[in-house]
Amino acid sequence: ASASAEQFAPSNIALCKYWGKRDTELNLPINASLSVSLDYLGSHTRLIPIEGQVDEVWLNGQQLQPGAKFSRKVSEFIDLFRRDQLLYFRVETRNNIPTAAGLASSASGFAALTLALNDALALDLPSEHLSILARMGSGSACRSLFTGFVEWEMGQREDGLDSHGIPLDHHWPGFCIGLVEIDAGEKATDSRSGMQRTVETAHLYQSWPLQAAADLSRLHQAIAERDFALLGQTAEQNALSMHATMIASWPPLLYWQPDSVAAMQKVWRLREQGLPVYFTMDAGPNLKLLFQREDRDTLLQHFPDLETVEPFGH
Ligand code: DP6
Repeated sequence: ASASAEQFAPSNIALCKYWGKRDTELNLPINASLSVSLDYLGSHTRLIPIEGQVDEVWLNGQQLQPGAKFSRKVSEFIDLFRRDQLLYFRVETRNNIPTAAGLASSASGFAALTLALNDALALDLPSEHLSILARMGSGSACRSLFTGFVEWEMGQREDGLDSHGIPLDHHWPGFCIGLVEIDAGEKATDSRSGMQRTVETAHLYQSWPLQAAADLSRLHQAIAERDFALLGQTAEQNALSMHATMIASWPPLLYWQPDSVAAMQKVWRLREQGLPVYFTMDAGPNLKLLFQREDRDTLLQHFPDLETVEPFGH
């Protein structure tokens, strides 16, 4: 039996990044990561059972070809839930964030789809289990099952049953994220193949798991003590270290555009002038600024188009 269902999941921004898989089928990471969920920015997914023999996938109001890469990914993900039953769905996903511009829309999309399947099939699974399932759609989706700060524990098991998101029991009122859109277009190399290339060809990658482990414990300390400078520095250095390993891959993997670099330099200049602002970047050209509410107005003078989010409310 199946019913219609509709669910929302937030996008998330990693402060310590997931980059590299030890199992590419199950999306098991080489390192643990830590993110913050983006409150109202994310994906709404609606599931409607249909009569056909194939799922219908709609993204932002447009039906995708059944053979399109994203449709296939969605259908294969639903297969995990379908097993031998002949249940097909019309899947409607709406993102209120730019798709595939490194703003983790696949994370919120697979998290919302997981929640909707849990409802549509009346599975009533615990959130840890849902996080494991979402991870199989896209690794970072396992963090979008939760709000606030979330750690993805890498786990040790080969079956991945200990590799899922866990929400941290810490709030940080006044903590802000700003989205600097450099280019909303589709990215050239998706995370999956980008990671694989980095793991296989970048000698620099050997130091990444150590860097990530050290950054993770610094972030835990920063969050527990509400030490914004420690959090900002750790997140920015973590992102730049990840990008350094990408750039050192072969063929080289550079997600930055000239405007990305210009925005980074602007952040560094503002910091030199005493404004506590930091950035992080994912597998795309856009920057995500980290700052505190009291500096929002000053920052908006320098980044007028900034879309700002307060993950812990106003
Ligand atoms: C740079 O979760 O999109 O955003 O598991 O292959 O779907 P797949 O990759 P994905 O990778 C996200 C990479 C990142 C860092 C992060 O969000 O931790």
